[in-house]
Amino acid sequence: MNTARGLEGVVAATSSISSIIDDKLTYVGYDIDDLAENALFEEVVFLLWHRRLPKKQELEDFKKLLAENAPIPKELIDHLKSYPNQKVHPMAALRTAVSFLGLFDDEADVFTKEANYNKAVRLQAKIPTIVAAFSRIRKGLEPVEPRKDLNFAANFLYMLNGEEPDQVAVEAFNKALVLHADHELNASTFTARVCVATLSDVYSGVTSAISALKGPLHGGANEQVMKMLMEIGSVENVEPYIRKKLANKEKIMGFGHRVYRNGDPRAKHLKKMSEKLTKLTGEPKWYDISTKIESIVTAEKNIPPNVDFYSASVYHSLGIEHDLFTPIFAISRMSGWLAHILEQYENNRLIRPRAEYVGPGKQTYVKLEDRG
Ligand code: CMC
Repeated sequence: MNTARGLEGVVAATSSISSIIDDKLTYVGYDIDDLAENALFEEVVFLLWHRRLPKKQELEDFKKLLAENAPIPKELIDHLKSYPNQKVHPMAALRTAVSFLGLFDDEADVFTKEANYNKAVRLQAKIPTIVAAFSRIRKGLEPVEPRKDLNFAANFLYMLNGEEPDQVAVEAFNKALVLHADHELNASTFTARVCVATLSDVYSGVTSAISALKGPLHGGANEQVMKMLMEIGSVENVEPYIRKKLANKEKIMGFGHRVYRNGDPRAKHLKKMSEKLTKLTGEPKWYDISTKIESIVTAEKNIPPNVDFYSASVYHSLGIEHDLFTPIFAISRMSGWLAHILEQYENNRLIRPRAEYVGPGKQTYVKLEDRG
């Protein structure tokens, strides 16, 4: 049997959603650089779900559809209030809340194309409301109702802070959402596809995807990056801190990638944003510490930063709590998960690989009383 550890190099699906070829990332053929510079997140969601860019009116209608579906049921707000909030990681809260939300969806187990699309709309629209509501509830504040007149990025920041964000923050956050929206067969998307390939439902698919994203080798890395930056604290401390980690063969969070060999094309956009935003907030040290880490890790290991590395200082500069970084990744990647779930249903076959058995050979069963 040929085993590919961690399924490295294995092509496990065909997809027309996003591609990584020669270190270039495209969504439906559109270069991520173009989309990051120009597109609204809602436009990208439409692109991933419909495989074409929306026309002007279609985009307006789609934005309206998401905005109208953003409120979450009162039962869910009460449920969020019942969590042991101070102890709960927001990704655990999100995983539970999204699953709970499915209980209130009359179409949860309806498998028509239309019902599945409607569920996708509801999930995409409501996930920022859930994350923002949880963040406020655990601080003893009431959740803020979503607004219909704000775009997706602005609405999230508004619901989080209870005040309208400025244009710089909205543009930066929109760009971060665009950059995280889809990424071919990453671990959480693969998880979602494995789940729904059993013909399980959309809520189960995204709940399992959130669970996979939570881990620090995947989406959880962005929170760990910020933890590292805080521990380092100053540019002078970078050198001894990083060299010690490398000497101990510890991984540096926010570096490396299974697929990219010469660097993650998303990282440069976040790096630029990090430089700008850390200056604007009067805390350029987070960018300076980050670039110093980058110079050491690339010189010593030749491993470039990935999407998670500079997103940490970007989100920190936007005033976002550090344990919300991964939920924000989930808010964006929800669009990709849903695109892949819908695509999987369109051309489904059970995903069931094999394992190479490496345990003991034939053994003889010994009765319990004779086992000594
Ligand atoms: N720091 C130090 N060494 C590293 C790192 C790192 N971040 N990443 C890989 N290496 C080394 C690793 O130690 C190994 O060295 P050796 O061959 O000497 O044992 C070699 O590179 C190959 O590493 P691997 O873990 O086998 O590579 P992989 O393809 O299985 O893992 C990865 C990819 C992203 C899990 C890994 O690079 C990593 O753990 N990075 C840190 C966590 C992280 O930033 N995750 C976010 C990934 S990108 C966006 C996302 O999915 O959220």
